[in-house]
Amino acid sequence: MPADELIPAGSPDLLELLASAEIDIEGRMPWSSNATFLVNLLIDGSAVGQGIYKPLRGERPLWDFEPGLHRRELAAYLLSEAMDLHLVPPTIIRDGPVGEGSVQWFVNADHQQHYFTIYENREDLHDRLRDFAAFDFIANNTDRKSGHVLIDDADGLWGIDHGLCFAAEFKLRTVVWEFGGESLPEHLLDAARRIAASVPLDVAALLNDEEAVAVQERAQWLVDQGALPTDPSGRRYPWPLV
Ligand SMILES: Nc1ncnc2c1ncn2[C@@H]1O[C@H](COP(=O)(O)OP(=O)(O)O)[C@@H](O)[C@H]1O
Ligand SMILES: [Mg+2]
Repeated sequence: MPADELIPAGSPDLLELLASAEIDIEGRMPWSSNATFLVNLLIDGSAVGQGIYKPLRGERPLWDFEPGLHRRELAAYLLSEAMDLHLVPPTIIRDGPVGEGSVQWFVNADHQQHYFTIYENREDLHDRLRDFAAFDFIANNTDRKSGHVLIDDADGLWGIDHGLCFAAEFKLRTVVWEFGGESLPEHLLDAARRIAASVPLDVAALLNDEEAVAVQERAQWLVDQGALPTDPSGRRYPWPLV
């Protein structure tokens, strides 16, 4: 499908499209550890866009997360919306060809680029990268690899692969450390204050009680620090880095 026929990820009503489209599996994504499918989204038989479908049934069991990583994908989307960051592409949970799963809008990204190249070459996008640092801290992302930051053809940055977020125990792992210790920009402070005051119900509903309380505590911690997190241990990196 030519790129210009795809609807860009910032467009409204994408949730509606994701929910109502027929899902046609195009193929399994290379490098994915779970069954992650690229799907065509069809309305009345014609493609309106593409999605990333992660069915519960395709998950590889993990020792540190309960089954149902697709719920965390949705919780990450909802948290990003609640923080007014819009950095996770529209995501829903629905039934699909292999059963219930998350379906996320497929961003038409330049896959040659990722966090490290964007940090290096695009100082104009550093403010947006700071959003990732705050978001990942509150979401407790354990898997912010460089390749989990995408850039689209309008220079929009998007975060993907949030199945390993929201553990109750703090275990942030990210490549985004360059901004550590900087004062929190006002919009991030506001967002953190809102989450510290109350975790959005739709996010909490996807987590257990302990995990939901921990979201609130991390947000409060950010507010108290007033600064982006640092990594004194030097070990809070995902593997592989890209
Ligand atoms: N919303 C998306 N838009 C564009 N590409 C995506 C999106 N989600 C995933 N991908 C691509 O698919 C690959 C595998 O997806 P990812 O979410 O990382 O799955 P896994 O959980 O299997 O690691 C990513 O590295 C990226 O290239
Ligand atoms: Mg991945």
